[in-house]
Amino acid sequence: MTEGTGAMRGRWKAIAAVAVSGMLAVSGCGGGDDKDTSGDKSEVEVFSWWTGPGEADGLAAMKADFEKKNPGTKFTNAAIAGGSGTQAQAVLASRLQNRKPPDSFQGHAGAELLDYIKAGQIEPLDSFYQENNLRAAYPAQLLEQITYNGKIYSVPVNIHRSNVLWYNPKIVQEAGLSGPPKSVAEFITALKAVKDKTKKVPLSLGAQWTADHLLESVLLGDLGTDAYNALWKPGADWSGPAVTKALTDFAEIMKYTTVEAASTDWQGAAKAVVDGKAAFNIMGDWAYGYFTGAAPNGLGKKLDEDFKYAASPGTDGTYMWLSDSFTLPKGAPHKGGALAWLKEASSKEGQDLFNPKKGSIPARKDADKSLYKGYLEYAFNEWNKPGVKLAGSFWHGVNANKKWHTDIDTAVGLFLQNKDVGKLQSALSTAAENSGS
Ligand code: GAL
Repeated sequence: MTEGTGAMRGRWKAIAAVAVSGMLAVSGCGGGDDKDTSGDKSEVEVFSWWTGPGEADGLAAMKADFEKKNPGTKFTNAAIAGGSGTQAQAVLASRLQNRKPPDSFQGHAGAELLDYIKAGQIEPLDSFYQENNLRAAYPAQLLEQITYNGKIYSVPVNIHRSNVLWYNPKIVQEAGLSGPPKSVAEFITALKAVKDKTKKVPLSLGAQWTADHLLESVLLGDLGTDAYNALWKPGADWSGPAVTKALTDFAEIMKYTTVEAASTDWQGAAKAVVDGKAAFNIMGDWAYGYFTGAAPNGLGKKLDEDFKYAASPGTDGTYMWLSDSFTLPKGAPHKGGALAWLKEASSKEGQDLFNPKKGSIPARKDADKSLYKGYLEYAFNEWNKPGVKLAGSFWHGVNANKKWHTDIDTAVGLFLQNKDVGKLQSALSTAAENSGS
């Protein structure tokens, strides 16, 4: 990425404040030492939730490179299905509690990682960073998101964008729209036009977490970047009229989604767009890996013909980001295997094999740009644009710790039943007050 304009650092700092204020303030834990690389290297069990087309292909590409470089290490893929890790994180929590950690697990940079650190469940990786000269490879601002008490705790493999509107150009045209909506108000008008003028679903949605994901884009689109980022700072007020307006819009938007939504995960919802069944879907750019991956695993669809993309309404110029990173759990049974895996995940080769398939851009600064085509070229350029505004994804671990994340999900789940904006807002206010941030 284009590094280090003061303004950019400032923005990152604002976002980082939530995660890092906690990181600096709380003392203790961590401990461990990754200097001992003599650990068992016969195996490595890698835990993630990448089982679907695109993401699983990215993981497989990195695994193949890993096996080539580490012929004596047996790779076990312990991925558990379920978008955004809904199932995987529950399994992981119980494994960590029972002191049966995998050798490495996927954890989002930011507040989510901080939870693992504070619970003493993962080891610092400073020696590993030093040996592999990694501090220089990552943007300083990203390193801040994985640092606690001066120690560094994970290996970021990518940057994803959360605020993407995927749309079917033919349905949008059939609805008489000149292009994708540019604001939340235009979005609501567009959804109505699709409903009135076509027989298609205006906005596809999947399992409950995809409503949480939609909520972060609507909050960002309505509030703007600064006010959105301010929601995640200690003592933030969620009870004001701007949030009421955003939640009222969210409620209106939800009226144009499918009733059978909950029975499918993000893949089913995203697929409805490229299959010509739904006009719009708001989903992270892992959808791009799924759409464009070669059949039979991927959908083999074509950008501009089968689907198009735009910033989610009202968010153009802001990158709502998240980063998948890998960890070294305390008590990992095959520490040598884990460190070899972290080396792969942190390498330029590994990231350039993984990300084009995954639908993300590399976390490293020295990636081969020519590999990132179509939507990914846009993502690469947006991320690196001088003056890009950054917002952290709350659903994907950047801004909200696990308790806050769960409380928001519970509030959204109740809202899906009672459709009561007032109750949603007061539950979200309470969630913020109780977040401990
Ligand atoms: C996110 C994760 C992505 C992708 C997505 C859908 O939380 O960071 O890598 O897996 O969920 O499952």
